[in-house]
Amino acid sequence: MDVKKVAVIGGGTMGNGIAHVFAMNDISVNLIETKQEFADKAVATIEKNLDRMVKKEKINEAKKSSTMDGISVFLDVEEGVKDVDLVVEAVPENFDIKKSVWEKVDKAAPDHAILGSNTSSISITKLAALTSRPEKFIGMHFFNPVPVMKLVEIVRGLQTDDETYEIVKEASEKLNKVPVPVNDAPGFVSNRVLMPMINEAIFCVGEGVATAEHVDEVMKLGMAHPMGPLRLADFIGLDVCLDILNVLYEGFKDPKYRPAPLLVKMVDAGKLGNKTGEGFYTYD
Ligand code: 3HC
Repeated sequence: MDVKKVAVIGGGTMGNGIAHVFAMNDISVNLIETKQEFADKAVATIEKNLDRMVKKEKINEAKKSSTMDGISVFLDVEEGVKDVDLVVEAVPENFDIKKSVWEKVDKAAPDHAILGSNTSSISITKLAALTSRPEKFIGMHFFNPVPVMKLVEIVRGLQTDDETYEIVKEASEKLNKVPVPVNDAPGFVSNRVLMPMINEAIFCVGEGVATAEHVDEVMKLGMAHPMGPLRLADFIGLDVCLDILNVLYEGFKDPKYRPAPLLVKMVDAGKLGNKTGEGFYTYD
């Protein structure tokens, strides 16, 4: 099956980036949000990021226009998924929210539609089991900023069949991304490796080994990371980092994944990184 039309559910940081890359690669997008103001914000962000690409001469004005024209906004999940080949869900990382979305999608999406979740940590096997077509359920884990990062971690649940994997792999390649297959396990590969590094960097700050700036300088200048782990934690969101660490901790029952006390404290204080204006750094 050729994926010609997708529904992207959720227009937040990940959802608007995912809609952006599908539409830019000539796959029509139904962008589904819960309120008009959230949808407007998502569309404005996509336009801003396309403008940035025009300015850098990565795309021309005509490409920007065709990308914007390829995105239709819906405020109703059932309406938005009824004529698509693939659904990509990027709603908040909360099982109950995802459950209610997937139950609606399963009823309204065409029988042939593939169901993909951009979850960064919730079990694909468990989400698949919420639907009547678990063999068509798969993880499509994109990375922030989506228009820039090449990876799509394709997560196969226990029930995912080979045909679903092949369709999603081809669709990811059409986005000029590199799909990498992994099997369902807590944190998949990306966050199982990344989050312990971020957590350890937070332990270093909490124990007074070095300041956040100095920890980041070590990793940037010594290991050629584009941004240090604490700057990256702010970029991802400290609440998201804590949620993922808890998934690893509970999933493996291994104390090596215990969240750093400083991370827990910062989340309790509402210092979540870029989105709240303060995390390990402050932002305008
Ligand atoms: N849309 C389009 N283009 C964008 C963009 C966006 N949202 N954000 C940045 N860019 C482009 C810029 O235009 C620039 O293009 P150029 O190379 O042609 O000049 C390029 O990306 C680099 O951007 P900047 O020059 O503004 O800034 P930097 O050089 O500092 O790069 C960065 C920014 C790409 C974010 C880089 O710092 C980076 O790669 N950081 C690491 C990001 C990362 O690790 N992401 C993964 C997070 S984990 C995740 O998402 C998974 C989840 O489950 C937790």
